[in-house]
Amino acid sequence: MNTTSLPRHIAIIMDGNGRWAKLRNLPRVMGHRAGVKAVRETIRCCAEKKIEVVTLFAFSSENWQRPQTEVSYLMELFVSALQREAKKLHQQNIQLRIIGDRLRFSEKLQKQMAKAEELTAKNTGLIVVIAANYGGQWDIAQACQTLAKEVEQGVITSDEINASLIQTKLALADLPLPDLFIRTSGEMRISNFMIWQLAYSELYFTECLWPDFNALEFEKALNSYSLRERRYGCTSEQLRTDNA
Ligand code: IPE
Ligand code: IPE
Ligand code: MG
Repeated sequence: MNTTSLPRHIAIIMDGNGRWAKLRNLPRVMGHRAGVKAVRETIRCCAEKKIEVVTLFAFSSENWQRPQTEVSYLMELFVSALQREAKKLHQQNIQLRIIGDRLRFSEKLQKQMAKAEELTAKNTGLIVVIAANYGGQWDIAQACQTLAKEVEQGVITSDEINASLIQTKLALADLPLPDLFIRTSGEMRISNFMIWQLAYSELYFTECLWPDFNALEFEKALNSYSLRERRYGCTSEQLRTDNA
């Protein structure tokens, strides 16, 4: 068994902040605060392992439905984390990208996002993607809009639309697809994360709540991944002959 195979791209649903806080009789938002430490630790682990891309689901398009106080706290947390962390990431040659519909965020936050992306754009190390006001269905819809406009303008014809063309218009089209998907907190669902891009990702679920996620938990996920056989619809035998 090949135990050295590492994912190129890891996509993570950082879940369980609220429950982590509840277990400690703290307000939910304290769980989000504690979750930032786990983000830092995860980025450090990815850089250390020379993973190429890590995508972190920070806020879904459905999370606006949460109580106003929690949403506001999360927005404040994004602003302060970006302010604090962008320079540090830059010093480590890390590139920061944000995916999702950012027009719904405050102007201040949008500016901060653009500034952090600009600062780190030319970095050649780990790519950290933050999915914020992101939804997999939104992603597919915006790709369809782009293609529809191209048809309208006569750049392409409708018959040219196929899966690979749609993929080129999705968020992160220039990066490898996620090899490993991790969701913490024991929930076993995709919750409208990168539904298209996860088509052939290896799924890993852990009971660990996000604020408790650390180097050891990261290692466990990588170990599990290294034992998987990615068949992409082929048979096990075919893979063995191809690799021989
Ligand atoms: C994930 O933790 C963080 C965000 C969705 C922003 P939750 O806040 O969903 O935590 P639980 O699932 O309620 O425990
Ligand atoms: C998914 O978690 C979104 C993020 C982690 C940002 P949720 O906690 O919002 O998902 P559901 O509601 O349990 O499916
Ligand atoms: Mg949750």
